[in-house]
Amino acid sequence: MFISENRRKTISIALVASVMLFTTASFAKEYIATEVIKNNSNPVFPANKEKGIDGGVVYKVKDNMYTVYAINNQEKKGFKYGRTPTKNEEKAWDVDVMPDGTGLPEGKGSVEQGDELYEEKCSMCHGEFGSGGKGSRSTYPTLSIGEASTDSLTNQRINPDVDGPKRVIGTYWPQASTLFWYIKTAMPFPHPKSLNNDEVYALVAYLLSVNDITIDGQELDDEYVLDRAKFLKIKMPNEDGFIPKIDGPKGAENIKKFLGNPKNYGNGTRCMKNCIDGEPNVVRIKKEIHKYEPPVSVVRDLPKEITSSKEVHPGQKIYETSCAVCHATDAMGAPNVGNKEAWAKKLEKGIDKVYENGIKGINAMPPKGGTSLSDEDFKKAVDYMIDNSK
Ligand code: HEC
Ligand code: HEC
Repeated sequence: MFISENRRKTISIALVASVMLFTTASFAKEYIATEVIKNNSNPVFPANKEKGIDGGVVYKVKDNMYTVYAINNQEKKGFKYGRTPTKNEEKAWDVDVMPDGTGLPEGKGSVEQGDELYEEKCSMCHGEFGSGGKGSRSTYPTLSIGEASTDSLTNQRINPDVDGPKRVIGTYWPQASTLFWYIKTAMPFPHPKSLNNDEVYALVAYLLSVNDITIDGQELDDEYVLDRAKFLKIKMPNEDGFIPKIDGPKGAENIKKFLGNPKNYGNGTRCMKNCIDGEPNVVRIKKEIHKYEPPVSVVRDLPKEITSSKEVHPGQKIYETSCAVCHATDAMGAPNVGNKEAWAKKLEKGIDKVYENGIKGINAMPPKGGTSLSDEDFKKAVDYMIDNSK
């Protein structure tokens, strides 16, 4: 904003910015944050022009004020802005569901219906089977790590374990009730509140099934129909993973005891790393690992920054985004980059066979590493791995 001194004098700008939305009415004289520009007869700032002298938008005049906000004509004192919502408006917002079932509507939906809805309305962001997804600007939450799970799911708020399981519905959410109303209120992201109760039941059933959660000992196969009665029997694997247990008559006591132990929050010093000395005092839930296969779309590390202008291997980037998940760690039994022996052994059968195995997939190596790369790009990544394992 470069306004000449002269002009600055002629325009008297008063900023009445009552940004303080205090919680008590007594604090608030102004009821709405409003940018008021007085002296609107000033010729250099005519109300009927779209643009102000600084190029900014000129807003409509109401009650002798230019304002970015619509002026509320009701009494301008206290917090009496707006009007009382109607009963129906209240009802439209009051959709939360409590762990005890309060607010949970009647309805039903099958896993299969949920699967179809998910494909249609959710998978573009949350990935196949909830495996998570990447958009151009952000990463969409992973909703399931499949049959995977966890030998050690922790209260990750306190002891985030980078190698530990991801926080997804099955490993982390303590209550299924949240799942119902969250989806009902907020999803699909671009069209919240567009799903009816049956659809939400179906989606919940599907998401529970891909999270390998059973209800009353029953597996959620395609035909499984989730309804209100069954919903109330869901017990989430991490129900007790949140500590301290703050509900119930012992809540306060538990919190006190928990906070009384400095191990639980980092010995009283500010800390960003390795905060907990020794074995942390956390409750872990145990679940058998069966067929652990991490989703291929999850990359935990940022790609290495390329600092020098020296030539970069054409396969490096592909490797880092699509292959390093498995080929940089021993976890999967994938030949590591840098492991000369392992790669030499693979290459005994000739490079073409190695390419072929990679493209078609072999054992725990998914076809093309689970990507849709072209053969050519895939081979570049293979070359990169081999070149760096000599
Ligand atoms: C356009 C992308 C998009 C679509 C489509 C979409 N979501 Fe989401 N979803 C998101 C984003 C972004 C978040 C995180 C929102 C936040 O944290 O504020 C999210 C969060 C969630 C979460 C909470 C995850 C967590 O761990 O916190 C659930 C559950 C969920 N979505 C379910 C669904 C379901 C079911 C559908 C389909 C009916 C759906 N989403 C469709 C983008 C999307
Ligand atoms: C989900 C984990 C995973 C991802 C992602 C992955 N790989 Fe693999 N890859 C493996 C495993 C495990 C093996 C070892 C398979 C075996 O021999 O049992 C392997 C083996 C290979 C082999 C050797 C094939 C042979 O001759 O035996 C090549 C080549 C290969 N991967 C290339 C790639 C490339 C290139 C990418 C990225 C585009 C990639 N992989 C992504 C897990 C993965």
